[in-house]
Amino acid sequence: MKGLFVTGTDTGVGKTVLSAALLQRYRSVAPVRYWKPVQTGIEQDDDTAEVRRLAAASDAEILNEGVRLPRPLSPHLAAKLADDPINLLRLYRMLPKDADASWIIEGAGGALVPLTNADSIADFIAMLEMPVLVAARSGLGTINHSCLTVEALRARSLFVAGVVLIGEPNPDNAEAIEHYGKVPVIAQIPRFDPLTPESLGDWSKANFDPQGYLERLLREQASSGQGPR
Ligand SMILES: Nc1ncnc2c1ncn2[C@@H]1O[C@H](COP(=O)(O)OP(=O)(O)O)[C@@H](O)[C@H]1O
Ligand SMILES: [Mg+2]
Repeated sequence: MKGLFVTGTDTGVGKTVLSAALLQRYRSVAPVRYWKPVQTGIEQDDDTAEVRRLAAASDAEILNEGVRLPRPLSPHLAAKLADDPINLLRLYRMLPKDADASWIIEGAGGALVPLTNADSIADFIAMLEMPVLVAARSGLGTINHSCLTVEALRARSLFVAGVVLIGEPNPDNAEAIEHYGKVPVIAQIPRFDPLTPESLGDWSKANFDPQGYLERLLREQASSGQGPR
């Protein structure tokens, strides 16, 4: 599919905020749409609703369908406890094969989070054939977590479009990830207080991806006609 798959080094690192920033930044470049295929702990956590709010998204920009599980656990276990195992092909078929859309698809947790007995988030990314963007914390520990995630994705022949750091900007960590991980750091998203559609949108339009790296990628996908198979 055209677009970007958003994974992270961990849960709670900022994937949902990054997804909203991507919509705010790129909706003038391509018709972007957001999808959260697997949501656990749906009573407390609703990333779809949060992206709708933070990106001030229209109904057309959000796909509501997906696996929605009550327990705030890893998807494989939340699905097992709900007696509703996840089927990757069924999940894939929920995605409209809309030739124009650039999808921003948010995973659950990190890249090797299990969805079924056999498959992880990385396997689902492979099925979608999408470039991957890695959300990571900006502070101490991020070099290891970011490089591990990039390496695991590449070991599965996935294309890593970049890493985005979230939190107090840390140029030394950004430089180290680029050097040791051989991967571009696309942006460093600061903490917003308050985090609102306006604060995130204004910052994203002016500062996200100053080198236009992802913008070029999205434009190339659009012009190469890469899309649904
Ligand atoms: N740049 C930011 N400014 C302020 N709060 C943030 C920022 N990024 C993330 N958060 C907050 O941190 C928490 C985790 O972020 P979230 O995007 O939900 O992570 P993930 O999707 O990876 O689980 C949320 O409460 C979110 O609102
Ligand atoms: Mg999230």
